[in-house]
Amino acid sequence: MARKELVENLNKALSLELAAVIQYSQHSYLVTGHEREVFKDWFRDQAEEAQDHAETLGDKIVALGGIPTVEPGTIHQSVDVSEMLKQDLELEREALNVYMAAWAACDDKDLPQKFWLEGQIADEQMHIEELEKLTSERKAHVKSEKIVLREVS
Ligand SMILES: [Fe+2]
Ligand SMILES: [Fe+2]
Repeated sequence: MARKELVENLNKALSLELAAVIQYSQHSYLVTGHEREVFKDWFRDQAEEAQDHAETLGDKIVALGGIPTVEPGTIHQSVDVSEMLKQDLELEREALNVYMAAWAACDDKDLPQKFWLEGQIADEQMHIEELEKLTSERKAHVKSEKIVLREVS
């Protein structure tokens, strides 16, 4: 039962990773203006990472006796880079929730899958933190604008 729930959640994660490959690629095609100079490659790098995650998931699902889905989740697009980043943040958050559900579905027999999922979860959390910074949802707060360095004698 736990194994079935684990595979179901891994398949949900796979469908979100497939959506991420397409969505990040689409954003890399659509981005225009001076932001293109930076974001075309940035979006393509994210698409490649999602592709790596999708491949790992497909292999893992088969190893656990399941059939990998070929259906991507919902894809969002925009011509505004700030909107694209918000769309990507939402997708990454959805993926994190599904990886967490897969982790929670692991029982004692599935400890190795649990450890593997912890690495995936750490990766997705880093993606979320980066996107929260890029959308300015997460900002650093400094108490003082001035940094006084100690004198070296
Ligand atoms: Fe991912
Ligand atoms: Fe991600």
